[in-house]
Amino acid sequence: MKKEVVVIGLGYVGLPSVINHVKKRHKVIGFDVDKRKVDMLNKGISPLDTVSNETVQMLQEKGTIFTYDAQQIVAKDVYIIDVPTPIDKNKIPDLSYIKSAVDLIKNKVKKGSLIILESTTYPGTTEDYLVAEFSNLDYQIGVDLFIAYSPERIDPGNTQSLSAKIPRIVAGHTDKCLAEVKEFFGSHVSSVPNLKTAELAKLYENTFRLVNIALADELQKISDNLDIKVGEVLEAAATKPFGFMKFTPNLGIGGHCIPVDPYYLTWLMADRGVETPLIDTAGKINDSMLDYYLEKINHLASKSKKEFTEMIVAVIGVTYKKNVADIRMSSVISLIKKLKEKNITVVAYDDVMHPYSVSTDETIVTLEPDYQQLTQYDLVIYAVDHDIYEDKKNIILDKSQLFYDLTTV
Ligand SMILES: NC(=O)c1ccc[n+]([C@@H]2O[C@H](COP(=O)([O-])OP(=O)(O)OC[C@H]3O[C@@H](n4cnc5c(N)ncnc54)[C@H](O)[C@@H]3O)[C@@H](O)[C@H]2O)c1
Repeated sequence: MKKEVVVIGLGYVGLPSVINHVKKRHKVIGFDVDKRKVDMLNKGISPLDTVSNETVQMLQEKGTIFTYDAQQIVAKDVYIIDVPTPIDKNKIPDLSYIKSAVDLIKNKVKKGSLIILESTTYPGTTEDYLVAEFSNLDYQIGVDLFIAYSPERIDPGNTQSLSAKIPRIVAGHTDKCLAEVKEFFGSHVSSVPNLKTAELAKLYENTFRLVNIALADELQKISDNLDIKVGEVLEAAATKPFGFMKFTPNLGIGGHCIPVDPYYLTWLMADRGVETPLIDTAGKINDSMLDYYLEKINHLASKSKKEFTEMIVAVIGVTYKKNVADIRMSSVISLIKKLKEKNITVVAYDDVMHPYSVSTDETIVTLEPDYQQLTQYDLVIYAVDHDIYEDKKNIILDKSQLFYDLTTV
């Protein structure tokens, strides 16, 4: 049945959610507190690299409203919350965006509204921040208001992971809440018995990745010590058709999921007196890789007649992973900062980074198509293998005096 749907937060999760629900023929209102983002969308310009301008224009043609005016989201059928859930510098969860989104809709929902939290968060959040708040307003949850949790699993940069095709985990505060959210999402739905199970399942998925990447990082250190190529070990192990999944070592995990979500779990468990040594260690290994690779780069630089600290270095690729335009929590940005702390002159290049996501002190420039400018650098660090660079990697290598490849193991 066609519904009036409000999506709160128009970022990497929220905007694709708008698209999915417009495609399902719902009438969608995208709400965001970021006026610049809303203005861009209203001009038919996408603020995200993962969504094209044509798609935004298609949304407009189908009557989608983009707004920062809270009066436009009063008394709608469905409210989907897609706001950030970051950690602070002490790796403590910051739930302030969820709180502000709940405050926003508190006096705007109507009897019968369905509220779905999609942000990644610790088990208990939906009960603490939504069920408790709306119960205090005298709603009877499961009777005159429905509250559900359904984590988003989109993988930016991976075209195979289009949100609409990924099975959804859904949970409701009551059976009726679950029935409502299942009916709303329709196909590809996997229901779980309660809200906390859904919240923990999402955290476990990303913690699983953190732990396995940390194990691969440790394998990198073991292989280096034994003078074995870690990539060859991984390839060999990956020929086993069961019980093994290949993860690769790297400079440090970037983005806003894997380096963030596990800390929602460790923070919660610390609060409840439960130790999580495996996850804690995985986090520390991940954090250690930057210095480890810096030492490897230093070792390569020692082959030059110039001192490392006197070098002029080019870094190619700065986003947090291949083919994404987003630099949030990018380990390459941290690497550039560390190089600069050593007084090394660094010029950073990225031809995929999206202008909207530039919120760094670093100046990032684009490469000339013939890569001739690379000849002037003492060292080229190839940090992110965007497809546009991979196609020309031989030329990049050819133009480099010294070349360090962070993308191949
Ligand atoms: N990006 C991913 O790949 C990904 C994947 C799975 C899950 N998630 C989770 O989804 C959630 C959203 O992540 P994202 O990457 O889309 O974040 P984002 O930063 O790209 O977008 C969030 C948007 O919410 C807006 N916002 C903040 N407070 C608001 C409020 N009170 N009302 C309205 N809008 C508000 C921001 O302005 C921003 O546009 C997070 O919990 C994240 O962990 C993200």
